Amino acid sequence: AIERTFSIIKPDATRRNLTGKVNAMLEDAGLRIVAQKRIRMTRENAETFYAVHKERPFFGELVEFMTSGPVVVQVLEGENAIAKNREVMGATNPEEAAEGTIRKTFAENIEANSVHGSDSAENAAIEIAYFFAGSELVG
Ligand code: CMP
Repeated sequence: AIERTFSIIKPDATRRNLTGKVNAMLEDAGLRIVAQKRIRMTRENAETFYAVHKERPFFGELVEFMTSGPVVVQVLEGENAIAKNREVMGATNPEEAAEGTIRKTFAENIEANSVHGSDSAENAAIEIAYFFAGSELVG
């Protein structure tokens, strides 16, 4: 089925001017960028977005990292977009990511791992609604 998923190009990637290269890998995988904006996440944005990780030891650092520079938030559309995006991103830890994936190619470490992608249809809907108005999605 055609799905939509939420994606973030993280501060480690924007800092190294990799937005276009990441987008090319997403598009080459068959995903269409139907919404995209470059923003600076506030502390509140990062804490709300990553609320499920609140009790994890890395939460504080993660919030610092996600607010350390610009991010590009995106909505990707395509056949099985959620799974397809997770496949092209690769494993959270770049040391475990498959050859040719975004994280294997670009990520610096498990935290500065270049991209985020929704892990389920339910979370995709929540994450898209947090950052985008319906009118900003142009399929
Ligand atoms: P993401 O897929 O956006 O989801 C949670 C983020 O927390 C993850 O990518 C990493 O950026 C960050 N993170 C930092 N340390 C860890 C860790 N040990 N395990 C999982 N995620 C981590």
